[in-house]
Amino acid sequence: MTQDELKKAAACAALDYIADASIVGVGTGSTVNHFIDALASRRDRILGAVSSSEASTRRLRAHGIEVFDLNGIETLPVYVDGADEIDGHFAMIKGGGGALTREKIVAAVSGRFICICDASKRVDVLGRFPLPVEVIPMACSHVARELRQLGGEPRLRKDFVTDNGNLILDVHGLAITDPADMETRINQIVGVVTNGLFARRGADVLLLAGANGVERLAPRQEAVSAALHATKS
Ligand code: A5P
Repeated sequence: MTQDELKKAAACAALDYIADASIVGVGTGSTVNHFIDALASRRDRILGAVSSSEASTRRLRAHGIEVFDLNGIETLPVYVDGADEIDGHFAMIKGGGGALTREKIVAAVSGRFICICDASKRVDVLGRFPLPVEVIPMACSHVARELRQLGGEPRLRKDFVTDNGNLILDVHGLAITDPADMETRINQIVGVVTNGLFARRGADVLLLAGANGVERLAPRQEAVSAALHATKS
């Protein structure tokens, strides 16, 4: 199977998690595009969707799926999105498509995060994929200096403006041994809107498509327990 066929297989498997009469949180990217196309077959059974980007909104509407404003909604049962990398604890790097901030917002109000990926996205340690950081334009140089202090090599994404009117710094060479700590440290830099580490709110289910089909995986529980313990102490 090609990588695109694997993405489609993972995306179609996510339909099993969509309840009738629900509003679905929808991510962004080529894998999610397959999910949106598959969701169209359920159009008359769901109420609609909340979208994480202008691109996904256009695709949802083209299929006749209603797109709701997140501000009118308290919780979403399920959020379906892809990832650029995902580790064994289901921490992720996201934002290759530049939609990381809205993705993180929709994920934050969702009960379950269903991550859909082809097998190439599964890694042991995050960081080979450059970490996207959304930045307020006037703070770009300041944030870049701070990111260098953290050991990364930030590069401005060329000819790209986010749906929120901001810029993206793609940070190469970070050693992300503690994703939750790195997520917090980068978000504390003044001028950062958010970064593409989804560790504090990682995925709950991974649908990983490989040569032998789609695996339905849960995160390694020992890491979740350790993180909760660290938060309490
Ligand atoms: C969009 O901003 C990203 O977070 C995507 O979810 C991620 O880049 C995965 O994209 P693909 O499904 O296109 O690989």
